[in-house]
Amino acid sequence: MAKPKKRFICTDCGSVSSRWQGQCPDCSQWNTLEEDVPDTKFAAKHNLASGGRAITFESLDAPTKPLARRTTGIGEFDRALGGGLVPGAAILMGGEPGIGKSTLLLQAAAKIAQEGGSAVYVSGEEATGQVRMRAARLGLSKAPLKLAAATSVRDILTTLGQDNPPDLLVVDSIQTMHSDMIEGAPGTVSQVRASAFELIRFAKERGTALVLVGHVTKDGNIAGPRVLEHMVDTVMSFEGERSHQYRILRCLKNRFGAVDEIGVFAMEGHGLDEVGNPSSLFLSGREDPIAGAAVFPALEGTRPVLVEIQALIVRLQSGATPRRAVVGWDSGRLAMLLAVLESRCGLSFSTAEVYLNVAGGYRLSDPAADLAVAAALISALADKPLGANAVWFGEVALSGEIRPVAHGNLRQKEAAKLGFGKAFGPADGERHVTSLQYADVGAVSSLVDRVMASA
Ligand code: TYD
Ligand code: MG
Repeated sequence: MAKPKKRFICTDCGSVSSRWQGQCPDCSQWNTLEEDVPDTKFAAKHNLASGGRAITFESLDAPTKPLARRTTGIGEFDRALGGGLVPGAAILMGGEPGIGKSTLLLQAAAKIAQEGGSAVYVSGEEATGQVRMRAARLGLSKAPLKLAAATSVRDILTTLGQDNPPDLLVVDSIQTMHSDMIEGAPGTVSQVRASAFELIRFAKERGTALVLVGHVTKDGNIAGPRVLEHMVDTVMSFEGERSHQYRILRCLKNRFGAVDEIGVFAMEGHGLDEVGNPSSLFLSGREDPIAGAAVFPALEGTRPVLVEIQALIVRLQSGATPRRAVVGWDSGRLAMLLAVLESRCGLSFSTAEVYLNVAGGYRLSDPAADLAVAAALISALADKPLGANAVWFGEVALSGEIRPVAHGNLRQKEAAKLGFGKAFGPADGERHVTSLQYADVGAVSSLVDRVMASA
């Protein structure tokens, strides 16, 4: 180690000099400079700038092994995962109760087991008999899946540690797991965190893909610590309206792939079916157009999905505060859009109740939906149907302008494929789809005329 340099500190003003002088150069006091002897032992212990091992830096293009993914045999699940399960990856699957998380994971685990992999399904919520009954209903009773009902993480890891590690371990749910190293009941923040930590460590060390089921709170967050989302590699959310058949598996975080792909499923009597081509699932399919309905070509990752947006406006006679209710879209965004329509088009919604619904239980997060929502609102307000043959997309700015959105081209292609003849969109939208007539909507102010003329 290099000899530390001598330094001198003025006892009066604290200024530092590199050599001793009779008079302090800063405060001009005499005989105040004293040598400061750094305590090397103290320094090594109390700062981290020395005493460690040297790390080697690598270049970004150094050869790495490609990820060996394992497909689950459920195409839509693999798609949402970004191409299959990565060994050692920890996945958190959130979703409302009854949406189908256990069903999906049982199907995936059974599929892997049927195809020669080893899969373990640990249920902390249901007895094995219940899971077996579900498996029978799904036609999977013969799958060589290892099933257990357990809640003690120590028991689970002790058992799994004695054998070859499984390819897939499903823990349903993390809120029921219990670590005896920590005080407290299952489901508390510290229990959830400690249990997840141990399970994830096992997965990483042994190369097992781990899926943790997580309950969600009423506002859609995964219950328990937010830190769970930081601990895992992938966060998925299983969404849909329980009363509807369709379910969407969405990836919210993925260390091993893109997050914008979705998997689409339909809940049937015999379990979840994959929906390979979802583009027209969320259209109502009615022949005669009705007022307040607009078709929006949504894009989920690289996948177009055409959805119907429905608006209903009820004029109030009394002075009661009008309600605004939204299903499948952001209510803050609706408030903004109503304000823009009021101030830029002179429309009045202040004495009317506004209901907005995205058909089929679909949840829209694409900002390009603004124009379709605006068109549906105007159509409902005027009680005049939009042209049945048209789709609408574009983002509405506060100024009332219609702003360009991503992948206008893909949206138009899909609309044309499904037999739509006309698209309304931003002024500088791409228009390469010849079979589709494209109409610019520069600003919402021209929207009222468009809506009136589109029928
Ligand atoms: P489940 O997987 O238990 O939901 P979660 O684990 O997310 O709470 O799914 C429960 C619902 O799915 C239940 O209300 C019934 C329905 N379901 C079907 O419609 N068909 C089926 O084959 C199965 C197994 C469940
Ligand atoms: Mg369940």
